[in-house]
Amino acid sequence: MKIEIFEEIDSTNTYLKNLDNKEEYQIAISKIQTAGRGRTGNKWESQMGGAYFSFVFKEKKGIAIEEYTRIPLVVGYSLLKTLENLEKNMSFEFKWTNDIYVQDKKISGILVEKRKEFFIVGIGINLNNKIQGEAEQRGISLGMLTEKEYDREELVKQIVVDFKENLNKYLEGNWKEMLKYLNKKNYLLDKSIEVHLRDGSIKKGICREINETGEIEIELNGRVENFSVGEIHIRKKEEN
Ligand code: BTN
Repeated sequence: MKIEIFEEIDSTNTYLKNLDNKEEYQIAISKIQTAGRGRTGNKWESQMGGAYFSFVFKEKKGIAIEEYTRIPLVVGYSLLKTLENLEKNMSFEFKWTNDIYVQDKKISGILVEKRKEFFIVGIGINLNNKIQGEAEQRGISLGMLTEKEYDREELVKQIVVDFKENLNKYLEGNWKEMLKYLNKKNYLLDKSIEVHLRDGSIKKGICREINETGEIEIELNGRVENFSVGEIHIRKKEEN
């Protein structure tokens, strides 16, 4: 596994995406990102102390593209497992499509991109950083929860090793078992939410399960609809 560690970079995802000769499971880590990117065009704050990294893997021959639509969920599943192993008493939850939550706050986010035959998986973890001010309402770091100092590189390597194993597990046909686990840890289950769709429209409803395809089921006026894109926002109690 080739690992490059940067003091500062714009974005580890952008770096690997634009790199000409990529090696399978090559990793880029940076202490700081000046233009960290989240999903749906969001910015990802990347201050000192967090874990910001990306890795690449090649699509496998003979695997249908439909199989790959679930890859972001497989990454989420795997990250959840690694974090659970690291902190066995902590209650991590999976927020569809790609976040890990603890105590109603975001601890990690995942951005999966594709360039030619490569998938670029970017992960940001609030690790040893302290989240302050207004952001403390929404985010928390592992260090803030445990008062420990984590070894960033060790954790990153473990995450990639675990993902490699879990991707094989998925490709060998264990999606159902993985999906069951994600649903067990489904942070959005039975929550009132808003789906913000790409066309700007907003739908309100109640979140149910993640389905076979990897979409989220949302109950809208008693009818269940499946959503594959769009951002989920949890509505505040007074809005219910
Ligand atoms: C999200 O929550 O919307 C996804 C956040 C992904 C952030 C990581 S940090 C490392 C990699 N480089 C980026 O620019 N983004 C990802």
